[in-house]
Amino acid sequence: MKVITTIQELQQALAPYYAANNTIGLVPTMGYLHEGHQTLAKAAVSENDVVVMSDFVNPTQFGPNEDYEAYPRDLERDARIASDVGVDILFAPSVEEMYPHQGGITFEAGAASKILCGATRPGHFNGVLQVVTKLFQIVRPTTAYFGQKDAQQLALIEMLVRDYHMPITIRPIPIVREVDGLAKSSRNVFLSAEERKLAPNLYKTLQSLQQTITQFDHIAAKAQIEAATNGRVDYIELLSYPDLQPVKEADTQLILATALYYDNVRLIDNIIFTVGE
Ligand code: PAJ
Repeated sequence: MKVITTIQELQQALAPYYAANNTIGLVPTMGYLHEGHQTLAKAAVSENDVVVMSDFVNPTQFGPNEDYEAYPRDLERDARIASDVGVDILFAPSVEEMYPHQGGITFEAGAASKILCGATRPGHFNGVLQVVTKLFQIVRPTTAYFGQKDAQQLALIEMLVRDYHMPITIRPIPIVREVDGLAKSSRNVFLSAEERKLAPNLYKTLQSLQQTITQFDHIAAKAQIEAATNGRVDYIELLSYPDLQPVKEADTQLILATALYYDNVRLIDNIIFTVGE
């Protein structure tokens, strides 16, 4: 596996694959890889001639009071993990390489970016769409892989590709969890021992809310999550999926999505399900 830090070098490495009309899989990440990322990479490796994983903590998707500086980073470890799962190129650019110009063109996503995580993280998804567009332009993948853990991000990227006619297939990958049900996340390292014990109750509560979904009630759901996790609920929402609209009677695909604050970390989780299942 090659670790590449510049766009020019990356495009040189990909030139033979473009020329041969090969399939190129892209797995965008912010690094500090775990089994969730590995699962995306494995799918990409099995479905493409060449796989690029990007490893870049993107500053434009972090708010001023968020954890950009503290976000965990370990490129050496990431390189070992990515190589083990068969990634061909790990693209780990600097901030200057990705953002050499100030004050240029930025993104303004619509209503679907302002609910759920977007309500407490204003501008977050504009930054995600900006960096993902850059990565799409730089790598020119045939298929790009995204996890359903970040369901709103995935839905917005599907809108981006649709609205801007990008010739890229988006492959959603189901949430990978710890054995106790906690969704894997690079940020789980910030949980205290006590929080780590209670955090799996977030998913357990989502499952129990799904069982009684016809009686879904925000206030009761929030209280139930907070009692089970000892965290503070940011949001708990039931919406249609993937368009993220208030549920109408005809909707069959729904998402129950939540975000929870602990002392030093904000966790997200969701269940996407078909009504009646
Ligand atoms: P990051 O949080 O590193 O996640 C990279 C990809 O891994 C995302 O598509 C995310 O949904 C997926 N992922 C993370 N945890 C997962 C889990 N437990 N199960 C399945 N998939 C999981 O998401 C980002 O980075 C960034 O916003 C990015 C898209 C790279 C843009 O900067």
